[in-house]
Amino acid sequence: MGSTEAHAGALGAPPVPLIEVRGLKYRYDDGTAALNGVDFRLDAGETVALLGPNGSGKTTFVLNLNGLLSGNGSIHVCGMSVEKPNLAVIRRKIGLVFQDSESQLFMPTVLEDVAFGPLNQGMSPGEAASRAQKALDTVGMGAAVSRAPYHLSAGEKKRVAIAGILAMDPEILVLDEPTTFLDPPGQTALVDLLRQLPQAKIVVTHNTRFARAIAGRAVFFERGTIIANGPVDEITNRFGWSGASDANKSSQS
Ligand SMILES: Nc1ncnc2c1ncn2[C@@H]1O[C@H](COP(=O)(O)OP(=O)(O)O)[C@@H](O)[C@H]1O
Ligand SMILES: [Mg+2]
Repeated sequence: MGSTEAHAGALGAPPVPLIEVRGLKYRYDDGTAALNGVDFRLDAGETVALLGPNGSGKTTFVLNLNGLLSGNGSIHVCGMSVEKPNLAVIRRKIGLVFQDSESQLFMPTVLEDVAFGPLNQGMSPGEAASRAQKALDTVGMGAAVSRAPYHLSAGEKKRVAIAGILAMDPEILVLDEPTTFLDPPGQTALVDLLRQLPQAKIVVTHNTRFARAIAGRAVFFERGTIIANGPVDEITNRFGWSGASDANKSSQS
């Protein structure tokens, strides 16, 4: 896998983590302290589940990773500090798939939607369209190019939103509660898709079965900090989250 090798250190030097976060704090304008000192690391090839109750800071955390929100502390992505001069590059390295796919889909056709990012990066329309087609093929939506995103099912919308990110050729995928609007077959199909994608992944989820199926490690957020980090089973057992699905785990916000 090219992206893995790119980050392995030469001659035994320690590899540069894909993401390294230290002491991240974030406060919203209304005074809400959403992150109170988060430390986190993502290595090449990893898939990490972000667990924790509603309102514990997971979404705020992922929005800081590509500079959509900007708190105090340090964040490095592929060795680059998440700061204004680096944001354009960093946003190509980290693809963020929002919880609500509709907020990500806004063009009249699926193809135009997925081609939007590459076009925006300065690719020619032909190149962007072929990138988009390839990404749609990857997510199993290659036949839907001329459909209206608006008319797709929730699972199809999620796939198209993921294609829009893949078209930018990111090294890291971040998905915020991707199973929320999906029925059980849609969730299974998403597991299959994510497992076949080579990128390192961060997946925010309340669905522990889903987390177990895709992630090698989990961290647990509580009140704006990560209070535990370990194998998914160990973390879900420790916090009594075993067997939780999207439907029955919510509190606190
Ligand atoms: N736009 C906002 N303005 C003010 N407070 C917010 C905003 N978004 C989230 N919060 C608050 O920040 C905290 C963390 O929220 P969030 O990151 O959305 O948690 P999670 O994704 O774990 O549910 C919560 O207390 C939430 O109410
Ligand atoms: Mg959230």
